Parts: sequence; C-alpha cells; structure tokens
Amino acid sequence: MRLPGRFRYNQMVVPDRRASLVAIYPGSFDPITNGHLDMIERGSRLADRLIVAILGNPRKQPLFSVGERTEMLREVVAPYPNVEIDAFRGLLVDYAAQKRATYILRGIRAISDYEYELQMALMNRRLRPEIETVFMMSGEAYSFISSMMVKEIIRLGGDVSGLVPPTVEARLKRRILGERAQ
Ligand code: PNS
Repeated sequence: MRLPGRFRYNQMVVPDRRASLVAIYPGSFDPITNGHLDMIERGSRLADRLIVAILGNPRKQPLFSVGERTEMLREVVAPYPNVEIDAFRGLLVDYAAQKRATYILRGIRAISDYEYELQMALMNRRLRPEIETVFMMSGEAYSFISSMMVKEIIRLGGDVSGLVPPTVEARLKRRILGERAQ
C-alpha cells in the first residue's frame, strides 16, 4: 500500500517521508485477549507494518509487567510477519510520530466504548493533527471480552478458555491462582 509523496490534511500539506504505511495499535494489553488478536489479524491487512504498542493507561493498575506483556504478545503474533511488538512510556501521538505512523488503530466493542474513544481520538488529533485515528468494530464473537473481566473470572474460578490464547490463560492462572495457592 503506497502513499502519494505529499498529502493534504485540512489546509496543511504534510510532507510524506514514509516508504510504507505504518499503523500503531496501542493498548494496555494486560493481558492480550482473543478480541485484541482478532483486531491484530484484521489490522495487519490494512498496513504494511502494524506496531502493537504497550502504553501506560493511568486509569489501570497492571497485573503483568511490560516485559511479561511483551512476551505474551510476541508469542501470539508470531504468525503475522508484518506485526511487531513495542512498548513506550509517554504520549501515544509522540510515539506514533517517532515511528512515522500514518494512523492509530483502535477497536470499538460497544457503544459504551465510544465516548472514551472519541475523547482520546479528538485529544490526540488536537496534539498532532497529522496522525489519524482509525476505528474498527471488534469481531462480533469478541465484542464482550475485556482483559479486566477475564482477570476477574479467573480470580473467581471461572472458565476463560476461548477468551484468551491458551498460553495467556496458563500465565493468568499461574499469576492469579498460583500466588493464592501458596
Ligand atoms: O487498552 P487501553 O487501556 O484502553 O489503552 C489506552 C491507551 C494505553 C492507548 C491510552 O491510555 C494511551 O494512549 N496512553 C498513553 C498516554 C497518552 O497518550 N495519553 C493521552 C491520551 S489522549
């Protein structure tokens, strides 16, 4: 997917120095779910390079370290040659600019996601108008999955198979139930 040498955003002509189309799929990924994986698979077809970036969300206290989340993500994206994993501390738009990304990819599961996503997208546009946010509807089979609920289900002894990749399920059980059993 090639882009023209220059493109217009509102009245601004933005020079395009990218050789290929780079997209950033940011998130906390604490841990990755099958919903995220579905987004990664579909998103990987819309860009030459899709960078899955772990960033800090001040609203969330992570269960897994950035290193652990990176490992889990690397294991499950192995089948997608144009997908890479990275982590960044700071503003998402600064990271996207550093990577010369054309757009930020975000998933919307339900109407309840919309308000927060809209606010983030508009704030990011205000910070760096040249970086667009592109939304994809999550796959209908995954629209009810969240990392937070998966962790709660494991804590309460429920079954999360099919909601997260098997390697992630094993890690979650070790972290949540293993610690409690000792
Ligand atoms: O998976 P999440 O927790 O919904 O992802 C949210 C995330 C990490 C993408 C968001 O909190 C973020 O962009 N954090 C980086 C800091 C930043 O840029 N904050 C300003 C957002 S308008």
